[in-house]
Amino acid sequence: MTTAKQPAVWIRGGTVVNADGERTADVLCVDGVIAAVGEGLDVPVGAEVIDAGGQYVMPGGIDPHTHMQLPFMGTVTDDDFFTGTAAGLAGGTTSIIDFVIPDPKQPLMDAYRTWRGWAEKAAADYGFHVAITWWDESVRRDMGALVQDEGVNSFKHFMAYKNAIMADDETLVNSFRRALELGAMPTVHAENGELVFLLQQEMKAQGLSGPEAHPLSRPPAVEAEAAQRAIAIADVLNVPIYVVHVSCAESAEAIARARARGQRVYGEVLAGHLVIDDSVYRHPDFNVAAAHVMSPPFRAPEHQAALWRGLQAGHLQTTATDHCTFCAAQKAMGRLDFSKIPNGTGGVEERLSVIWDAGVNTGRLTPSEFVAVTSANAAKLFNLYPRKGCVAVGADADLVVWDPAASKTLSVATQHSKGDFNIFEGRTVRGVPTHTLSGGRLAYVRGDLRAEPGQGRYVKRPAFGPVFDALSRKAALAAPQAVARTTI
Ligand code: URP
Ligand code: ZN
Ligand code: ZN
Repeated sequence: MTTAKQPAVWIRGGTVVNADGERTADVLCVDGVIAAVGEGLDVPVGAEVIDAGGQYVMPGGIDPHTHMQLPFMGTVTDDDFFTGTAAGLAGGTTSIIDFVIPDPKQPLMDAYRTWRGWAEKAAADYGFHVAITWWDESVRRDMGALVQDEGVNSFKHFMAYKNAIMADDETLVNSFRRALELGAMPTVHAENGELVFLLQQEMKAQGLSGPEAHPLSRPPAVEAEAAQRAIAIADVLNVPIYVVHVSCAESAEAIARARARGQRVYGEVLAGHLVIDDSVYRHPDFNVAAAHVMSPPFRAPEHQAALWRGLQAGHLQTTATDHCTFCAAQKAMGRLDFSKIPNGTGGVEERLSVIWDAGVNTGRLTPSEFVAVTSANAAKLFNLYPRKGCVAVGADADLVVWDPAASKTLSVATQHSKGDFNIFEGRTVRGVPTHTLSGGRLAYVRGDLRAEPGQGRYVKRPAFGPVFDALSRKAALAAPQAVARTTI
């Protein structure tokens, strides 16, 4: 990481948007942090000036779900930590939370150190969730070390991917309980892996071997069962839970019901699931259909409406991408067998524009709600707030200057991501970044991407202390004043 002093940056005349409101104000960034927000600021001589008239100034996006350089399904994703974070910067995303995914029986700390090494070339700030793919006493111990020494405050559980990284109920129970002890957030990929496995075999037995079988082997009920099971386990153990990539009405409703009962359950939606439907799997070109293979799959259009409603109602709190890119040659590993197509799609670069265009331009979200679901809520849920997720004095100068009037047509031809496909191909979005600041540095200026390897920092995310106690319903009932400290 470069530590040389950077020139101050003065963002003048924009509308500053935070999750709790907006106002006209200048923003001054000095030495990587926000030094002042207001009018008539005392600006150092030589400061770089950005004229933000007519534009919004917002906290940079936080993508809480990416997979850069992930070894997965017999191959490795195209984007590494440099190309992936650079693509994010081009789209206004200044932080990612990626995943350390140990192989079953691999010590957690070994995997964690491997991922830390891979991520050293990141161009933007990053943290890690660590997946719990197996269980024994060493896993329990390493979870403690990760939380207490390494700044990991969330653990991921894949309820799918049988015979690979799937966590069974025993692992879920042990890990959730340990997470609660440590003040860490358990998260789940909710799909019933046994049912997926069975349905995949049945599809193939019926002669369905192409990508059209992918969504058929992972119907909404398979996701809903797992979401409900994870929520029930979390309820019994009295631990909060975060459900990643909620893709269907049934899961969103399970989360809403649990929240209505007072359970601390949180849900994440992917930009892709909000705007792309399952017709993509019936595309006659294998390469196009396979390029959309990800799990849970894109759903019928009525599910998109349910996801938007979840975001609007606050039952679902964050948006992410699950950025996990594979090129056509990699997807072709499953040409004869859809269950071998590496699962994953991109989006880290496009998320903000897609959600602004489909969310704010349609009146579904206000600009402040946009900030909440693209940045602030993830910062709060993963304990990065207020260092990140808000435009305020003392926060990291991770900012996006946003032109709500400018349009762009998204395309593989112009993307910065290394993938050879863009799931948003041809979509014209209104609302694009003109400038992205990462730690006070101008990383993107009107089409000019200035990302540099190694400029991203590993960001430690402390365990939840009293706030986390308040996250559990029973503790909340015992100490109602603590609840006020939670902000979602
Ligand atoms: O298809 C997906 N989502 N690939 C990445 C791994 C995961 O399940 O998150
Ligand atoms: Zn997943
Ligand atoms: Zn994922």
